[in-house]
Amino acid sequence: VSATGRAAADVLIDGETIRAVLEPGSTLLGTDVAASVDRVIDATGKYVIPGGIDAHTHMQLPFGGTEASDTFESGTRAAAHGGTTSIIDFAVQTYGQRIEDGLAAWHEKAAGNCAIDYGFHQIVGDVNEASLEAMRRLPDEGVSSFKLFMAYPGVFYSDDAQVLKAMQVSRDTGMLTMMHAENGPAIDVLAAQLVEQGKTDPYYHGIARAWEMEEEATHRAIMLAKLTGAPLYVVHVSAKQAVEQLAWARDKGQNVYGETCPQYLYLSLEEQLGAESEQWGHFEGAKWVCSTPLRSREERHQDAMWQALRTNDLQMVSTDHCPFCMKDQKELGLGDFRKIPNGIGSIEHRMDLMYQGVVTGEITLERWVELTSTTPARMFGLYGTKGVIQPGADADIVVYDPNGHTSIGLEKTHHMNMDYSAWEGYEIDGHVDTVLSRGRVVVDGDEYLGDAGDGKYLKRGLSQYLI
Ligand code: URP
Ligand code: ZN
Ligand code: ZN
Repeated sequence: VSATGRAAADVLIDGETIRAVLEPGSTLLGTDVAASVDRVIDATGKYVIPGGIDAHTHMQLPFGGTEASDTFESGTRAAAHGGTTSIIDFAVQTYGQRIEDGLAAWHEKAAGNCAIDYGFHQIVGDVNEASLEAMRRLPDEGVSSFKLFMAYPGVFYSDDAQVLKAMQVSRDTGMLTMMHAENGPAIDVLAAQLVEQGKTDPYYHGIARAWEMEEEATHRAIMLAKLTGAPLYVVHVSAKQAVEQLAWARDKGQNVYGETCPQYLYLSLEEQLGAESEQWGHFEGAKWVCSTPLRSREERHQDAMWQALRTNDLQMVSTDHCPFCMKDQKELGLGDFRKIPNGIGSIEHRMDLMYQGVVTGEITLERWVELTSTTPARMFGLYGTKGVIQPGADADIVVYDPNGHTSIGLEKTHHMNMDYSAWEGYEIDGHVDTVLSRGRVVVDGDEYLGDAGDGKYLKRGLSQYLI
């Protein structure tokens, strides 16, 4: 199955690379191909797809006074289990730090630890003259995109002047500007007022981060991108009004793109409000505190996200994998939702959760491949070696069984380094059977056969989506 169609075929792999895609039973130079290879993986009745590419992950992200709980080792192993064979993580420049040092620190965290291939975007957390100079050298390092935050004042936040200057570098270099589009200063006022009123439960995180805050920031990002000529990619879109902004700009010919994440397709603010457990009481809802927040199902944001994935108003699905345990991490926000570290862990389940959208008729099989692998490769300068099964491409391949079944839950399928699953109880009518990373079988059934250090750094080119 590719982004453009499906056919019965044999895939011939030589070492780390795909050598040929052949009609079943083909001969090559007179020899029976299947009889002359070292190993045959029989995928009869199953889908053979290019390995998933998760273009938005945060392994070991320092955030909210703690650090995301998946290391590059545990997080990429979980990814492999779920049929994802490449990630693009976010190297972080913190306030006051040099970009070069932030990037070097991320190389250090990842090198020798990854089960699958990995690349980096650059978070620019301090837009100043030195940063703007350093950003121009990032494409030479294989980092062809950077993320700015209109949210989180005092942490990663950029004001409009900083956004404008960084976008000018984006225009000059062809680096994609990735935007966290929420009005952080306004959200912080609303959040403080809620806490003053005693509204401290996790649910109020989503009330403070109202969809108006996302719509407004998305519009502002679009206009600043229009003015500067920067190519814009909005991350973790969750509000239907934000999608409307993207669609509006795209209809006017502007080069803007957006991703959503599984949590905005399946989970809702109402469910977060209703969440309760013996152990945590109403604080149970902290499990789903992320930014942008879960949106109201009643307001039909989830339906709008699926629709946007069909109409191509949104182009991709990434996880924004940013896991924290409840114990010692999420619980930092007991009594004040502002102190809950933001993030959900989903890297292991993205391919399955999106496949369930095929089962329920939300998207086609081909669109599944496009949203999870092919477009991420094209968007972020990996296409050809990744995102496609064709001669010369890396042999990153998933054999997916549509007759298999996956029960998601902490006691069942969980390989992420978390003490709960945000997806407890989700049932998937399909199963990741076999996963190959550059020709090596790293997952067979539910068994992990790879090694930390198999994954290599991906020096990315510029996006194919520049116009
Ligand atoms: O809640 C989230 N999304 N945490 C990760 C940081 C970010 O903004 O992507
Ligand atoms: Zn973000
Ligand atoms: Zn993120």
